[in-house]
Amino acid sequence: MSDVLFKISYTLADIDKAAADFWQALAGYRIFAFSGDLGAGKTTFIHHLCGLINVADTVSSPTFALINEYHYTAGGGDNIIYHLDWYRLKDDAEAISAGMEDCITEAERGAAKCFIEWPEKAKNLLRGPYLWISIESKSATEREMTVTRVG
Ligand SMILES: Nc1ncnc2c1ncn2[C@@H]1O[C@H](COP(=O)(O)OP(=O)(O)OP(=O)(O)O)[C@@H](O)[C@H]1O
Ligand SMILES: [Mg+2]
Repeated sequence: MSDVLFKISYTLADIDKAAADFWQALAGYRIFAFSGDLGAGKTTFIHHLCGLINVADTVSSPTFALINEYHYTAGGGDNIIYHLDWYRLKDDAEAISAGMEDCITEAERGAAKCFIEWPEKAKNLLRGPYLWISIESKSATEREMTVTRVG
């Protein structure tokens, strides 16, 4: 079963407002799977979202490292975000040896959040519940995001 929890269209001019609305609606979730074509805007949205919640680290695409770790303060404590890029992974086995399952497990037990780009590359690692965030280009400047809850 999946329910649409959130839907929004935005440009770079109002992406910070979109990120604020997104976080207000969805901050309670732990696993965020960002799906969309090359250049759809997954990294860009995550960058603005992390700026909004005052992530202390540089937020960039984990294209080579595959896992970026960020920290932010909320609820009086230190919180961890794992920014994962599965684009270069062949399959579930490769994802597991790259440490992706450990990040998911930490998120499942509430010790971190995971923001995942290219989740379809190792979808079996997502056991649910998680959010499926689809980003589509409507034009050169406009994106439409649809968020469903899975599991
Ligand atoms: N409304 C928008 N939201 C996000 N990006 C936009 C928007 N309008 C234009 N862009 C541009 O689209 C590009 C999005 O690139 P980005 O690296 O975020 O995509 P991505 O989905 O992470 O791609 P990849 O699959 O390569 O990781 C950027 O060049 C950005 O400036
Ligand atoms: Mg990216």
